[in-house]
Amino acid sequence: MTHPAPQPRVISAPGPLRGTVRVPGDKSISHRALMLSALAVGESRIEGLLEGEDVLATAAAMRAMGADIMRGGDGVWRVHGVGVGGLLQPESALDMGNSGTSTRLLMGLVASHPITATFIGDASLSKRPMGRVIDPLATMGADITASPGGRLPLMVRGLCPAVPISYRLPVASAQVKSAVLLAGVNAPGITRVIEPVATRDHSERMLAGFGADLSVEIDEEGARVISLVGEAELKPQQIAVPGDPSSAAFFAVAASIVPGSEVRIANVGLNPTRSGVFTALRAMGADIEEVDARSVGGEPVADLIVRHAPLVAADPDPALAPSMIDEYPVLFVAAALARGRTEIRGIEELRVKESDRIATMAEGLRAIGVACEELPDGLIIEGRDGDGFPGDAQVASKLDHRIAMSFAVAGLHAAKPISIDDAAPVATSFPDFFELLAHLQN
Ligand code: S3P
Repeated sequence: MTHPAPQPRVISAPGPLRGTVRVPGDKSISHRALMLSALAVGESRIEGLLEGEDVLATAAAMRAMGADIMRGGDGVWRVHGVGVGGLLQPESALDMGNSGTSTRLLMGLVASHPITATFIGDASLSKRPMGRVIDPLATMGADITASPGGRLPLMVRGLCPAVPISYRLPVASAQVKSAVLLAGVNAPGITRVIEPVATRDHSERMLAGFGADLSVEIDEEGARVISLVGEAELKPQQIAVPGDPSSAAFFAVAASIVPGSEVRIANVGLNPTRSGVFTALRAMGADIEEVDARSVGGEPVADLIVRHAPLVAADPDPALAPSMIDEYPVLFVAAALARGRTEIRGIEELRVKESDRIATMAEGLRAIGVACEELPDGLIIEGRDGDGFPGDAQVASKLDHRIAMSFAVAGLHAAKPISIDDAAPVATSFPDFFELLAHLQN
């Protein structure tokens, strides 16, 4: 696929950030809401859907497989599903753009339907490993032909009925877990996923919410065992998507590092499988207050009030990694301004995200004046003890939205401007990011 022209951006320090922002809908929940609504018979309504490129890629794919998906003038999305087992053969390749979640979860759906789909994506997605989903889906009976290295473009020929499996996750990945469960939705019998390390549980919560017979138990070794009864009948739902903690994290770090800041971030999803970054920031001395705790769409939500605070190095517990996996790039920015040296380990998964986030961040941090050392599974960062970055440098975002936003946050506390070679990828997950930032600068 072709990618839009690069959009360079220069960020300079504006002074304190003040005011209230409401972050957009959770990306993980938005993908799942569209997919499960498209498998229910009848009309589901989704409020607060993230309208970023990744989620729109999922919507387009579900339309191509027969679902009727419309955005109402009121901003509520209405989905008429085809029923489990009812996905239609798409007429052309499914363009997943930059979105690994769309790709891996939809591969699961296709795997147990009597259809064939080709998946294509941008240069970043075409480098990402798909073997982790190909293996279990092939065991369920799907016939998958991938490009060398198990990459996109690839073709999935589904098998119906598929073979339900019991699968122990070899890597802590919610995408792999969800691919197997989504394939299991249309497989006869019980599909089981054993998860030694807990990852985000939105698929489990939402499948149960749509009426699937799903249970979660903890085995004698402490692993989560998720059992799903297949050939499920999903009932249409009204879904409210909470704000994305991964998007909120950029503002939480921004307010923490820019002296004089006080920001209220409204409607932040605080599912414990997602909120590790706030725990890690608090351990560094961040001042993050949770107010108005409530439940939205079956997920815990609160507003966060974040005030500037001097940060102190605190090595994040590797056990927190799955609950903050997407937030490390911006956490590195916080660590780079803290007092002391931070050693971050156990994050080798970052190397197979939209970019190699350990290498991309190390390169960019050095460019803006930070001493750091790359490790195979992490990064050591020498903190600047509150001294802003020297800046006066260009960093490369490498088609990775979270890299672009992390360096935008760094630019808010830099002596000289930081320029980002391409901020276009921000539109995949957070189209309003720069507008909301500008709002806090006034
Ligand atoms: C996601 C799972 C995570 C995360 C990604 C979204 C999901 O990926 O990094 O942004 O929605 O299931 P992995 O499963 O590869 O860890």
